Amino acid sequence: MDLKTGEIEKIIYGFLPKEEGYQSTVLSAMNYSVKAGGKRLRPLLMMETYRMLLDGPDDAGSNGLLHAFMAAMEMIHTYSLVHDDLPAMDNDMLRRGKPTTHAVYGEAMAILTGDALLNFAFETASKAVCEAAPDKVSPAAKALAVLSRKAGIYGMIGGQVADVEAEKKGESLEKDKLHFIYENKTGALIEASMMIGAILAGAGDDTISMVEKVASNLGLAFQIQDDILDIEGDEATLGKPIGSDEKNEKSTYVVHHGMAASKDKVKSLTESGIEILKALPGDSSYLVELMEYLVYREN
Ligand code: IPE
Ligand code: IPE
Ligand code: MG
Ligand code: MG
Ligand code: MG
Repeated sequence: MDLKTGEIEKIIYGFLPKEEGYQSTVLSAMNYSVKAGGKRLRPLLMMETYRMLLDGPDDAGSNGLLHAFMAAMEMIHTYSLVHDDLPAMDNDMLRRGKPTTHAVYGEAMAILTGDALLNFAFETASKAVCEAAPDKVSPAAKALAVLSRKAGIYGMIGGQVADVEAEKKGESLEKDKLHFIYENKTGALIEASMMIGAILAGAGDDTISMVEKVASNLGLAFQIQDDILDIEGDEATLGKPIGSDEKNEKSTYVVHHGMAASKDKVKSLTESGIEILKALPGDSSYLVELMEYLVYREN
């Protein structure tokens, strides 16, 4: 499966800041965290959803507005990981096969690096909105609204809050709350990625909400698979520590339902997502293949 990592990194790296000035330490830590590696799944999903729904010649390789949102999304995702790894949160020392940002730059600088990536993401996306062609300003503004909502208190941050509070709850955690955590801490950014791809391609509200549903299924499956890999994965392949959830007494889907049911759930969520995907206009073959690949991913 070609995950197009090189193509996406070329786009994202073009938006990263120059390491100069009295604040250069935070700039270097931002670049370290983004360039450390990773699957680049969210910008890939954004680009491929755009490609699928675009009615007209494929300009995804040269579309500055799309590229700015792809970079902004990866910056926000990376900030979420930098903060997630902090001693006060999951307290992990390895990420994307490298020492975590706080391990290299210290805790204070890692907090600032996360803040900086979040802010710079919005600086990058809003600048592109200001520079958009007149007929693209409205979808661009809508994309910005989706990005801000899904990254925030009604999205990723909301999920992380409930995740932190759910530690040490074991199976006593309500089913609804477990769903809320997965839908938000992981699902929200995956939903935003695909929705923004659809919005920038000019899709209507019905299509955007179908895309949101596909991504919601994918997001839940992706986090359950992440929890499975935290138990059964290989640290070198994964690029992050296994056993982090057990160490922090996290109430994961696997803790609640067991390993076999968790694997079945990854498959059934993916199948439901693919069914909706196939009903959308455009050529969905790449995204279908990607979703099928992710069920058996090892990193
Ligand atoms: C890790 O996301 C955090 C989760 C939401 C499970 P990824 O598995 O996409 O991490 P990278 O970007 O490839 O490092
Ligand atoms: C994190 O979930 C989701 C985020 C918003 C960062 P995890 O804590 O399970 O992610 P990993 O396993 O550290 O990547
Ligand atoms: Mg976490
Ligand atoms: Mg973690
Ligand atoms: Mg995890």
